[in-house]
Amino acid sequence: MSKKITVVGSINADVVATTGKYPIRGETKFGKTVNTFPGGKGANQATACHRLGKETFLVGVVGDDMFGSQILSDIQKSGLDTKYIKMTKEASTGVAMIMIDETAENTMLVIKGANDTMKPEDLRQVEQAMKESEILLLQMEVPEDVVIQAMIKAKSMNKLTVLDPAPADGITFRALNYCDVIIPNKQETKFLTGVDVHNTESARRAARHLDDLGVKNIILKMGDKGCFVYKEGREEVIPAIKVDPVDTVGAGDSFSAAVACALADGVDLFQAAEFAVIVSGLAVTQIGAQSGLPTLDDVLEYAKEHDIHHYLLNYQ
Ligand code: RIB
Repeated sequence: MSKKITVVGSINADVVATTGKYPIRGETKFGKTVNTFPGGKGANQATACHRLGKETFLVGVVGDDMFGSQILSDIQKSGLDTKYIKMTKEASTGVAMIMIDETAENTMLVIKGANDTMKPEDLRQVEQAMKESEILLLQMEVPEDVVIQAMIKAKSMNKLTVLDPAPADGITFRALNYCDVIIPNKQETKFLTGVDVHNTESARRAARHLDDLGVKNIILKMGDKGCFVYKEGREEVIPAIKVDPVDTVGAGDSFSAAVACALADGVDLFQAAEFAVIVSGLAVTQIGAQSGLPTLDDVLEYAKEHDIHHYLLNYQ
């Protein structure tokens, strides 16, 4: 039976505006559309795991307000387990103000709100969820102490910890001591290693630096260039799949979730990354961090159409 996954992380309402070009600081511009979508790195990753067929627990907090109730009801409808999601009166639901320009690139301001009220005491839920799961997947949009304590708990239970150290604004070096797998994007890699990844040589330097810092399974996300995978001196560049991107919000989340799912199925880091580039590639073809997340059937169909058979056989 496939292993279960616990995701500890943020739950947000994403207010997404599309525009031709971003306004410059101090300027007023007319945009094109505005919509509210469910988001938050934790919720995006948990939803991605769920769509990919994994039994998934999401541990997080929403505010006791309109966004919180709406998000909880949406999550329930999606079939994802909500028993470890808390509603608090301490703060309002996290909100991300997002602008997407004509190149599908995004700029984001995140108000952490209720996500920031999560405390290490809330980790009793993580312990419960981890009793049933083999993999703990986390990001850095909830307090650092929560992330660290959750990983310590998971390690004491001999579980695998997968860290997506996003956003760069929330990164902590302490977290590196407890993660088995790290999946940073270019900004986060720069923050952690000082290396600006722009080619294979710089990716190798950054990965070796992370390896020296003690993390032994490394995947550097390189956006439309794909990813660089590094483990014990073996390395591989895996190109992104070719798609017409509409919205890249949550692409990194879907990538990390896919890696966790593949690892839960027992494939190695390189095969997991091959799976993840398809998942994140398909995820950017629709607007909304969660609306475009592919199901396992979507991924298999893509693989069949493009004659990619080898590792996906593990999922059938
Ligand atoms: O990674 C994308 C997510 O970051 C968005 O859904 C937004 O809520 C922020 O958490």
